[in-house]
Amino acid sequence: MRVRVDLDRCQGHSRCYALAPEVFDVDDDGYAALLIEGDLPTHLEAPAQLAAANCPERAITVEE
Ligand code: F3S
Repeated sequence: MRVRVDLDRCQGHSRCYALAPEVFDVDDDGYAALLIEGDLPTHLEAPAQLAAANCPERAITVEE
């Protein structure tokens, strides 16, 4: 499972960081920064999906 962030959509709501801080950080401008490139460790799949479901801009995609 992999995560992508569409920075054209991200508006800096930081819910991703709050819900899955092992997967997301925020950059100096407050936009999402992905901490994990490539396959997610299994224990981070659920937090990543939760973050994707809670991003108001639908900027996060979780793919198999
Ligand atoms: Fe951006 Fe959504 Fe996170 S708007 S900072 S990807 S909650």
